[in-house]
Amino acid sequence: MSRKRSLTAWVRILHRWISMLFVVVAAALIVPGAFGVDTTTSPLGLVALLMLVLLAVSGVWTAVHHYAVKLRHPRRRSGVPAAPVG
Ligand code: HEM
Repeated sequence: MSRKRSLTAWVRILHRWISMLFVVVAAALIVPGAFGVDTTTSPLGLVALLMLVLLAVSGVWTAVHHYAVKLRHPRRRSGVPAAPVG
């Protein structure tokens, strides 16, 4: 049994997983920093920056794709149908 996912679905999954790892890496920098450890020169900072760049790229991709699909396939406004005239 296999399910074929679109490229954007994969980009979204990637965004989700990077975001979880990013939280861990950011915490590993912030928590020691809060206890007075100097983390400003830690190589982990570069890892966090790289992850943030990947998040920005995949996030903008997801956002652009979301609206591109809406523009290509416009749906009629949902809600209560208009009352018949006359
Ligand atoms: C840096 C720029 C970022 C941009 C432009 C961005 C953009 C987006 C967009 C457009 C979505 C889809 C929203 C929707 O239509 O439902 C999304 C989902 C999400 N974003 Fe970001 N995001 C960014 C950074 C982050 C960061 C820093 C985190 C967390 C550390 C994060 C975590 C998530 C999560 C968990 C989702 C839901 C993914 C899913 O379950 O499908 N994002 N983001």
